[in-house]
Amino acid sequence: MTESGSPKTLVFATGNTNKKEEIAALIGSDVELKDLRDLGVTEDIPETGATLHENACIKAQYLWDRFGLPVFADDTGLETTALDNRPGVYSARYAGPAKDPVANMRKLLQELKGLADRSAQFRTVIAYINSTGKLQYFEGIAKGQILQEPTGAKGFGYDPIFLPEGHERSFAQMSLKEKNGISHRAKAFRSFIAFLEDQKS
Ligand code: IMP
Repeated sequence: MTESGSPKTLVFATGNTNKKEEIAALIGSDVELKDLRDLGVTEDIPETGATLHENACIKAQYLWDRFGLPVFADDTGLETTALDNRPGVYSARYAGPAKDPVANMRKLLQELKGLADRSAQFRTVIAYINSTGKLQYFEGIAKGQILQEPTGAKGFGYDPIFLPEGHERSFAQMSLKEKNGISHRAKAFRSFIAFLEDQKS
């Protein structure tokens, strides 16, 4: 590839094969996508940042330093207005290291009890480091409200308590296709992939 052009091999800092396949289908067959498993990375990459941007950057930089290949990493958090954007970067472990989604939701609902402002947003940040070591960020946001109680059984994480703006059903009541039409992660990846496409021309 050229220095500024589209990469032929791209590293995705994920251990989740489903996530990799999903993104591989969007990126197109002329780019070889490698995840942590493909690279034999078995250790946990530290997520010690205080913001989503820092965490995404730390993960991407860790792999760039090790392999010197173009790499991207994503980090997502749920930000509530009334709680100064908590849980934010701590979304996965909000109720403790067990990363229990039910406990996380319970804790958040407890903290929001009695507060009038239930507005919130999911935010996904992608950090991309190209072959020359240049760092760029891409972002996607889904705005909405935190429901009074979990509703719906699909999805994962905080989906059952998140009502996306302009909709009458929670993320957990939507099909994956429907959620992907409006989700923070899909928006961030669409913007990243559009950028890669642009580099091809
Ligand atoms: P990650 O950065 O994608 O691992 O996301 C961190 C945490 O944010 C997850 O463990 C979930 O608790 C939460 N989260 C991220 N994306 C979503 C989503 O689309 N729906 C619900 N919760 C999510």
